[in-house]
Amino acid sequence: MSLSVESPPASDMRHKLIIGLDLSSVDEARALVARIGDAGTFYKIGYQLAYAGGLEFARELVGEGKKVFIDLKLHDIGNTVEEGVRSIARIGATFLTVHAYPQTMRAAVAGRAGSALKILAVTVLTSYDDQDLAEAGYAPGTSAADLVARRAAQARDIGIDGIVCAAPEAPRIRTVLGPDRLIVTPGIRRSGAASGDQKRILTPADAIRGGADHLVVARPILTAADPRSAAQAIVDEISAAVA
Ligand code: C5P
Repeated sequence: MSLSVESPPASDMRHKLIIGLDLSSVDEARALVARIGDAGTFYKIGYQLAYAGGLEFARELVGEGKKVFIDLKLHDIGNTVEEGVRSIARIGATFLTVHAYPQTMRAAVAGRAGSALKILAVTVLTSYDDQDLAEAGYAPGTSAADLVARRAAQARDIGIDGIVCAAPEAPRIRTVLGPDRLIVTPGIRRSGAASGDQKRILTPADAIRGGADHLVVARPILTAADPRSAAQAIVDEISAAVA
């Protein structure tokens, strides 16, 4: 295994596609990454794989020159978040998610200091609507849309590197964040593809034109007969949208 390989240049459109390794074993993930080969440069590891050896696998990917997004949506007391982020920074990950609570975001920014890790904030989970917020104890009348905007502004002011949001929200979030912060969006499907349980979907081209910097795609690649071609087709669509 090589210890360190050059990452692709920023102009390489492959890095705009983040392939979600929503798999339950490292063996499956390793096999998928091998099948995708050089069509994929950026992988996301979430709860499912992280708690099945995925953090060690993250080191392996980084050693092979891949970029890694650790999607653990951290939220705890400040000291715990700061130290946890510091440990993840040592893995060599590129992105890490935290919930967009001010204390948590400040701690995450402190924890990633001096490293190349970028912190992405999750404002309001997309599975939450206004009723879910009321049930969770937020003041009656609190709207998810307003809370998303408020937390995106707080994230910007605290120095968070970017936001994860549903693709259709990207244009509005971009107006809050300004041009320099990252927007990362799941819920991407090529036209005509099955949407699965994703309700608010956009095509890769529309998401990029709407201001997304990186797209997270899992099932359309994981379940494709040819995952490498599926990834390549999305990268081609991103390249055409950027050109
Ligand atoms: O399979 P699919 O392309 O829908 O997967 C999208 C990925 O993005 C999954 O890893 C999922 O957990 C993640 N995600 C999402 N919606 C959010 C936040 C994260 O689908 N609001």
